[in-house]
Amino acid sequence: MVSVTKVAVIGLGTMGAGIVEVFAKGEFAVYAVDGTTELAERGRGFVTKSLDRAVSKGKLTEADRHATLDRITFTAELTDLVDADLVIEAVPERMEIKHSIFTALDDIVRPDAILASNTSSLSLTEIAAGTRHPERVVGMHFFNPAPVLKLVEVIRTVLVDESVADTVRELALQLGKKPVVVGDRAGFVANALLIPYLSRAIALYETGKVSRVDLDNAGRVGIGLPMGPLTLCDLVGLDVVHEVCKVMYDATKRPSDASPSLLRQLVLAGRLGRKTGQGFYDYS
Ligand code: CAA
Repeated sequence: MVSVTKVAVIGLGTMGAGIVEVFAKGEFAVYAVDGTTELAERGRGFVTKSLDRAVSKGKLTEADRHATLDRITFTAELTDLVDADLVIEAVPERMEIKHSIFTALDDIVRPDAILASNTSSLSLTEIAAGTRHPERVVGMHFFNPAPVLKLVEVIRTVLVDESVADTVRELALQLGKKPVVVGDRAGFVANALLIPYLSRAIALYETGKVSRVDLDNAGRVGIGLPMGPLTLCDLVGLDVVHEVCKVMYDATKRPSDASPSLLRQLVLAGRLGRKTGQGFYDYS
């Protein structure tokens, strides 16, 4: 079983930057990688802003902020990852992008390094099957915001070596997270529960019989969730919700699992939620 001390995270969007922060706070050395120097610097900006917020709230000392940032190497070079023990891919949810990254990693990292994906919708088995060592490929799925939410889904394929899944589970515990282990199925566990609820809420809103605020209050105040469903869609990203809907519908063919028409339209219009400044609500 590989002992993990050096971690790499590829893709520094909302999730990737959050995962970098989690590992760096957990005292791991972290390579934070994105496709260009500009994107890597944007990632540095996300992590720094989040740490600054923690300092301003008195949750992190200035010294710990510095120490956390010092553990992170921001880079645009995948070839820097030769000595990584664990690589977590958090790039956009397109199979061809994932395949090209995992194929490149096959030639860069040690044969015993673990390759993980943070995918929330794509088949881990398909990702693993495209690599030279599918037995070391596993899902490590964090939840948004990664520095706050405790759940980590560890996704096992039929090809994975059990010791790899065990190592990732142990690592999640070490980071103070709550791991759940699940086989490779559409929506894994949490999204299989959450996405039908979000999709139902969007369809209800689309009927025009309830305002977005009242709908969100029903979810938040009535059901006791931390956010209403439309606000949560905006946080997660409407494109992400749409992709998971598509995967679940492909698996079940149940009309109720299909992506709601309004969701499809908002995604086509580029209104993806907080990250683009507009979704169900306006953040500009
Ligand atoms: N990074 C780091 N810390 C953050 C943060 C971020 N992006 N956003 C919020 N926080 C911290 C705040 O600093 C604050 O910490 P303290 O209480 O220690 O001061 C705490 O979280 C609460 O934040 P706020 O006071 O700003 O606001 P809030 O009480 O409304 O909480 C929330 C914000 C944590 C996002 C909360 O509303 C929440 O948990 N919402 C539900 C999120 C959820 O369900 N996520 C799962 C989505 S599904 C998914 O991700 C999987 C997928 O594949 C689609």
